[in-house]
Amino acid sequence: MGQPQILTGTERRFAESDVIVSKTDTRGVITYVNRTFMKISGYAEADLLGKPHSILRHPEMPRAVFKLLWDMLGAGREVFAYVVNRCKNGDHYWVFAHATPSYDKAGKVVGYHSFRRVPERRIVDETIAPLYRQLLDEERRYPDRKEGLERSHRMVADLLASKGASYDRWIFSL
Ligand SMILES: Cc1cc2nc3c(=O)[nH]c(=O)nc-3n(C[C@H](O)[C@H](O)[C@H](O)COP(=O)(O)O)c2cc1C
Repeated sequence: MGQPQILTGTERRFAESDVIVSKTDTRGVITYVNRTFMKISGYAEADLLGKPHSILRHPEMPRAVFKLLWDMLGAGREVFAYVVNRCKNGDHYWVFAHATPSYDKAGKVVGYHSFRRVPERRIVDETIAPLYRQLLDEERRYPDRKEGLERSHRMVADLLASKGASYDRWIFSL
């Protein structure tokens, strides 16, 4: 375990017109960031290029969400997800992210890219933040990390089953 990360509790908001862009290799190591990414996260390009994307990971993000992201990308699919990220100074910002595989001419996956927009406040406050809190609590309840992840993953599956919806349909129904 590393040092506990500083969190200020201050949320950074950004404009509807802002698009936060990054690209990674197949392991999630950052290969490109746009200026908006740097402005909002507070990191310089040199801090980010060559670093794992988890450099932004906020401790209140459930692991189940990242499992879903990687499972879908690994299956060659695009994925939409609400994510809270940690800025360099410990502030945080919520995004609605869209990630997709990037292909070379031969159709081989060479990495991933992601576009993030400002999320709808109502959806974060009423649905996503409370859900992520529950998933995180479930993950922390089990000393065995793997079991915690399995349990929270099951919570997501149960939620979708109760709505009778796929993940994609559910996220766009909010
Ligand atoms: C294209 C792409 C974009 C990503 N963007 C983020 C992000 O903005 N924030 C984040 O915490 N993780 C992001 N991830 C996921 C990270 O790679 C990682 O799985 C996650 O931070 C959990 O890290 P951990 O398993 O080390 O805890 C992204 C992954 C990809 C492929």
